Amino acid sequence: MKRIAVLGAGNIGGALIGGILKAGVADTEHLRATDASAARAEEIAAKYLIEVSRSGNRQVTDWAEVVIVAVKPPTVPHVIAEIRDALREDQMLISVAAAFPIALLEKLIGKPMPVFRAMPNIPVVVGEGATALAVNGAATAEQRKFVESIFRSTGVVCTVDEELMDAVTALSGSGPAYVYMVIEALIAGGLKVGLSHEISTRLAEQTVLGAAKLVRETMLHPAILKDRVITPGGVTISAIHELERHGLRAMLISAVETATRRSRELTQSLVAKYGAAK
Ligand SMILES: NC(=O)c1ccc[n+]([C@@H]2O[C@H](COP(=O)([O-])OP(=O)(O)OC[C@H]3O[C@@H](n4cnc5c(N)ncnc54)[C@H](OP(=O)(O)O)[C@@H]3O)[C@@H](O)[C@H]2O)c1
Repeated sequence: MKRIAVLGAGNIGGALIGGILKAGVADTEHLRATDASAARAEEIAAKYLIEVSRSGNRQVTDWAEVVIVAVKPPTVPHVIAEIRDALREDQMLISVAAAFPIALLEKLIGKPMPVFRAMPNIPVVVGEGATALAVNGAATAEQRKFVESIFRSTGVVCTVDEELMDAVTALSGSGPAYVYMVIEALIAGGLKVGLSHEISTRLAEQTVLGAAKLVRETMLHPAILKDRVITPGGVTISAIHELERHGLRAMLISAVETATRRSRELTQSLVAKYGAAK
């Protein structure tokens, strides 16, 4: 078992702590965390029975074999500056910060070591996350497998070339927000035709969950599954005609494309601000 430190026990850090313990990737003796908020540190310590300190980034990095940086992107340079001297070549550093490239992390660290960049999404908090992983050249196959096991403890993991991270951010990183809008609109549709709040909500959420599960379990293209629920002259095709008329698919394609561009812009501004040698 490796000693894992999670720096920043917020939404993502907290979910990783829960997943790591639940999957047995580490036990409570091999997992420590830090958080800037005293209340959050206490909450996580009480919930998971692990040591969580408020200002111990440096100490916990000394102790750890794997360091997960799970603070907001503008805080990453400060945290790296704090732990830099404690980082060692035989450790692994994982950052989950959006739009924060590996080259910039390497520059801030200033010494060769395995550096992973992960893009999880918010369903990691319920063990149904989608995480993409990229890594620099310093990691061994065994280290890659270990880091994959950390994120697999919170859902599905894909490995990608780092240049695809903006696309991943736009699709699965931000994707839950798009799906929430779809659920919200389906609930409103149910209300419009007379269903109660409670029944609309329950039916809408289960419809999205069940439809996604069917895609996964049948491994069929969604177009085939869609075709199977269409009856000629029936109800579903009349709704699909409306969705096509208003460009649902074109809108989602454009949303992912625009979000990819925005993620690229944010990456470039972080690089310009903190000066990656790229
Ligand atoms: N949320 C998502 O859907 C999502 C998806 C993909 C990637 N990410 C990335 O994941 C990272 C964390 O996001 P999040 O949503 O988990 O944010 P969050 O809930 O705000 O968690 C960050 C935590 O780190 C704490 N913190 C701040 N400064 C710190 C320091 N110097 N040392 C230790 N802890 C510190 C914060 O405390 P305070 O609140 O007191 O500052 C907060 O509890 C971000 O870089 C984000 O880009 C998030």
